[in-house]
Amino acid sequence: MNPELLRRYLAFYRDLGVRFLWRRALTPHPAPVASLAAADPLAAAPPAPALLFAEEAPADDSLARIREDIGECTRCRLHKGRTNIVFGDGNEQAKLVFVGEGPGAEEDAQGLPFVGRAGQLLTQMIEGTARKEGLHLRRSDVYICNVVKCRPPENRTPLPDEIDTCSPFLFRQLAVIRPKAICCLGATAARALLGRKEGVTRLRGQWYRWQDIPVMVTYHPSYLLRPYNQSAKREAWEDLKKVLHYVYD
Ligand code: URA
Repeated sequence: MNPELLRRYLAFYRDLGVRFLWRRALTPHPAPVASLAAADPLAAAPPAPALLFAEEAPADDSLARIREDIGECTRCRLHKGRTNIVFGDGNEQAKLVFVGEGPGAEEDAQGLPFVGRAGQLLTQMIEGTARKEGLHLRRSDVYICNVVKCRPPENRTPLPDEIDTCSPFLFRQLAVIRPKAICCLGATAARALLGRKEGVTRLRGQWYRWQDIPVMVTYHPSYLLRPYNQSAKREAWEDLKKVLHYVYD
């Protein structure tokens, strides 16, 4: 990028109160990690995304501080239609973080992620799969957040500039929580964290990583709610089983 343009971008973000910028991914196509069961599961993993700033995330960064930095955000057009910023919810020391795309109508109304129909399915998936696998896990044990924190109009997919504007906050959330694994729900989360543009069908079921944290990609619960996508449900359950065993065994 032209250095002058880069300088102006950085000044723009600094003026907005954004102190840390993260590049989405170092490589355009990080390969999947073969298996996390290997002795050193991450040895073969692709390099982690790097800080664009040669600055470390602050040692005292916290979810509260990130929420404070977001403020009453007007950084992108999504603020115009929102009722509430949907920051994230759950256990701040969670071993597992789920990342969705962006709030829907119900989430926008309540200010909480995944509380509508897709959210109910996500809760069933988390708690039901855990129970079947002999694990005691409640939704409140994990942390759930989205790539963009404001509802896109008509629930459309967030645009690349909206994702770029909001994802530094997601990266900071993940860096603060430092879960044992991250589960991307759908292609938007996979794109934001891994820089992968393929569909979920191609990406799901394999391990990747963000920074040094293992990442699984699976179907978004909204996709699974559509009646013609029933075969994907079984695959999503398989993905989730892998994640839960890796994190909680
Ligand atoms: N879909 C998402 O991606 N996130 C939510 O919070 C709700 C629905």
